[in-house]
Amino acid sequence: MTAERPEGEKYTHGYHEVILEFYRQRTAEVCAGFLLPHLQPEASVLDMGCGPGTITVGLARRARTVVGVDASAGVVESARRRAREEGVDNAIFEVGSVYELPFGDASFDVVYAHQVMQHLSDPVRALREARRVLRPGGRVAVRDSDYQTMVHAPVESALEHWLRLYIEVATSNGGEPRAGRFLPGWV
Ligand SMILES: C[S@@+](CC[C@H](N)C(=O)[O-])C[C@H]1O[C@@H](n2cnc3c(N)ncnc32)[C@H](O)[C@@H]1O
Repeated sequence: MTAERPEGEKYTHGYHEVILEFYRQRTAEVCAGFLLPHLQPEASVLDMGCGPGTITVGLARRARTVVGVDASAGVVESARRRAREEGVDNAIFEVGSVYELPFGDASFDVVYAHQVMQHLSDPVRALREARRVLRPGGRVAVRDSDYQTMVHAPVESALEHWLRLYIEVATSNGGEPRAGRFLPGWV
């Protein structure tokens, strides 16, 4: 089972094992460093678009409960496996869409999303859902890329070509590869 996406929205990165293995290098310390000082040990956290769940598991070590939700049943299963392997039993994972979160109003103290908004055709709708499931006084924490500001050294024409192409493809898939710069406005 895979959650529905709005028409015209395609997930650009796909679910090849190579890309999932790249995401598995991600940690809460690096990818949620801006959130950790605000995370209370009694907090309930939602990780929207959790992917293979390494950040989710790291958040679970610092919170009461964490729920990871993702559109892909495959990555949700992989995240569950990861939590089991790491002996983390306060993280659960569910298949679901960020546009229709399968949770009641005011269910979480924190809603976190990492590198997800760039893939959405309607990030503001997803953030409205985040607000709906957030308790009054809760915190939304989002982090994302801006591909147009990426630079590399040495300068490689192949990489520059790839970057231009990536921005075109991601945009035509309904996403916003410059998401990072828009986050404050969307929120
Ligand atoms: C780039 S990955 C990031 C995964 C994880 N947050 C991380 O940083 O390692 C984006 C994830 O968002 C999920 N996603 C994309 N669109 C979604 C949607 N409409 N609803 C739920 N999840 C979605 C994808 O399935 C994918 O696992």
